Amino acid sequence: MNIVKKTELYELLEFPVHGDHTGSLVALEKGADFPFEIQRVYYVWGTDAHVTRGHHAHKELEQVIVVTSGSCDFTLDNGRSKETIHLDQPNVGLYIKGNIWRTFTNFSADCVVMVLASLHYDENDYIRDYEQFLKETK
Ligand code: TYD
Repeated sequence: MNIVKKTELYELLEFPVHGDHTGSLVALEKGADFPFEIQRVYYVWGTDAHVTRGHHAHKELEQVIVVTSGSCDFTLDNGRSKETIHLDQPNVGLYIKGNIWRTFTNFSADCVVMVLASLHYDENDYIRDYEQFLKETK
């Protein structure tokens, strides 16, 4: 795994691809070169282009987001700066940790987003109110 970019909002990770004339494969394995121990995997697809998902931050959760098919945009906000990242490569992961407000939009029709998470699903870990998020960044 290579860290190809690191900012105050995120890290962009590049995973090694095993590929030949039959196609390509990326393996993400517990204990191997990965920023955290994976506790949960979920994936999202069938989102219309005009829909915006997300609208929340997390207290403790760490996530690596991989767009395994198609493309979409992730806007990250830490209360001081914002950046939109376009993801369209199955061997690239967007690593987010800490109190970052995130929205996802501009989904291609074939977009599949896979998320690797450091914790089990817990609604108490979500911050779904933007004003509360801003307070917690101070
Ligand atoms: P949500 O996190 O709001 O999705 P997004 O940020 O992509 O818009 O989750 C949507 C619904 O799915 C919500 O009812 C909670 C449920 N959910 C789970 O049950 N388990 C999970 O691991 C996740 C991520 C969501």
